[in-house]
Amino acid sequence: MPGKVPTRSPTHEDVPMARLASMGLELEEIAVENRITLPDLVELAEDRGRPASHYLAAIPLATELELASSSGVEVRVCAGNCQRYGALDLLDHLVERSGKGRPFGIRPVECLDHCDTGPACELHGEHGKLVLAPATASKIDEALDSL
Ligand code: FES
Repeated sequence: MPGKVPTRSPTHEDVPMARLASMGLELEEIAVENRITLPDLVELAEDRGRPASHYLAAIPLATELELASSSGVEVRVCAGNCQRYGALDLLDHLVERSGKGRPFGIRPVECLDHCDTGPACELHGEHGKLVLAPATASKIDEALDSL
């Protein structure tokens, strides 16, 4: 787990670990060979009346599952302590954007090692690696549009 945190105060609450654990079990039920697709996850979240970001955060924090990757740029989002600085909003923004325009993959991870400048994202692809920390929805959009 990360040792550093931003010096500014948290702006968001993180999802309690017990809730992530129960969402992890729900995800395991619909996973196929330890993989889960984004549309299946979104459908589950809608059924349960919870934001898709909560289930996305549960993947690295409470399961051994992986989100099935799609082609194009992979957006890694820290869903660990960066939740306290708005990471869940970034994940929900990415879910909303997925399926529109150029394809990209979402990969929630436990930490990206940019803890003191969270919320942290990394865009991986043919361009190499672009770090956004602190990331915002508009910075991610701009980067995805230009890569
Ligand atoms: S907690 Fe380490 S990058 Fe988010």
